[in-house]
Amino acid sequence: MASKQKSNRSRTPQSAEFLKFISENWADQPSTDIAQWEVASYAAKRRAKLAKQFKGKVLVIEAGGTKTRSNDTEYRYRPHTAFHYLTGWGTATVPDSVLVIDATGKSATETLYFRPTAGRDSDEFFANPMIGEFWVGRRPNLAEVESQLGLKTKDLAKLEKFLKKTGKHLTLADQKLSEAVSTMRFVKDEYEIAQMRKAVSVTISGFGDVVRSLPAASRKPRGERVVETAFFARARTEGYDLGYETIAASGPNACTLHWTRNDGDVRAGDLILVDAGVELDSLYTADVTRTIPVNGKFTEAQRKVYEAVLEAADAAFAIAKPGIKFREIHNAAMQVIARKVHEFGLIPVTPEEALDPERQHHRRYMVHGTSHHLGLDVHDCAQARRELYQDGILEPGMIFTIEPGLYFHKDDLLVPQELRGIGVRIEDDVLVTETGVENLSAALPRTVAAIESWYQEQLLGSAG
Ligand code: GLY
Ligand code: MN
Ligand code: MN
Repeated sequence: MASKQKSNRSRTPQSAEFLKFISENWADQPSTDIAQWEVASYAAKRRAKLAKQFKGKVLVIEAGGTKTRSNDTEYRYRPHTAFHYLTGWGTATVPDSVLVIDATGKSATETLYFRPTAGRDSDEFFANPMIGEFWVGRRPNLAEVESQLGLKTKDLAKLEKFLKKTGKHLTLADQKLSEAVSTMRFVKDEYEIAQMRKAVSVTISGFGDVVRSLPAASRKPRGERVVETAFFARARTEGYDLGYETIAASGPNACTLHWTRNDGDVRAGDLILVDAGVELDSLYTADVTRTIPVNGKFTEAQRKVYEAVLEAADAAFAIAKPGIKFREIHNAAMQVIARKVHEFGLIPVTPEEALDPERQHHRRYMVHGTSHHLGLDVHDCAQARRELYQDGILEPGMIFTIEPGLYFHKDDLLVPQELRGIGVRIEDDVLVTETGVENLSAALPRTVAAIESWYQEQLLGSAG
């Protein structure tokens, strides 16, 4: 059936005369820049570190293929995070590539297998819409990639034979290997920190676009889409993509934690919660949230909720430093959240009672966590063991979010009318330094006053 459908669609002529005609008279391809990429030396160190942990083993790390959206239509390609981390190849990765680290010998050998450019004398380049260069663009040759990445390359066609000869090997489906690569990524190297600064910086520009889109968004049906796409334009023009689906949640939609439908109206007088991050070509992503009044001015009730969340965030910032446990950041924020919801009359126990692990009444108003690691994946290092994640000790070079929130649903009968339908989250990206943390997203306003004046500046066109 599938092949019949394919042939139904195919319009490529098959005559011998056509095949001869299309395979001749092509100029040589100009060679691309083959200087070694900056990431190459960092990726080499990461591979060496991994090989040391798996002495005597063969590691097969797949980039993965394209994912089908429907029928013969594919999603935008993104190589597997572990593959990218260990090769540095990023968005240029040829789908289905495989990194092999052979740690069985005295010193490990590393080989990158991929499907190199096919000659114009094959019919692949014009007749194969999935990988043909007429269809999807030029593929590099083995020598180009070898010098860009500083990594030995071989034709993917040779991989099967190698694996047959080798026999047993580990892949990312083996928990030990995926756990090891996830754990290595907790502490970012210099290259990664520079990329994260850039991802955050482009994301901050995207939030400027978001604010400037608000007047137009409030005049159109489904204004949340106007806001979402304002950010997306920045992500695609200055980065590769979004790091995750943007949340553009106006009014009570902000209480739906993963509101990515973004089909609501944007109304003056409401807040809009925007959670968005640009993923760069290097595939590092930011993850930032700001909650902004649609008309530029917080109401008293909105300000009260906003400032409670800000105080929780500040409490988390205040304790974050090397040597503490990751989970303590969340605990610091929860102390403030419990106290605030008690002050607002929303829990039937004292803050101390609520903070008892067996009780936790305050979590009705903030069910998510306060922090997660961030990097190549928005929820980075996710395969690492719990004792190294939640119970892990902060070290310089770690990057994570601080993102408390309060969400008062419009149908929550415990909440007074004036607070119903208000949802606030403030999310920043922080880097652990030798003495504390640096807020990488500090250039984005966080206080009520700073957000109100930022709004005015953006709409007067005085900042970009
Ligand atoms: N944007 C997803 C998160 O904040 O974790
Ligand atoms: Mn987050
Ligand atoms: Mn987020």
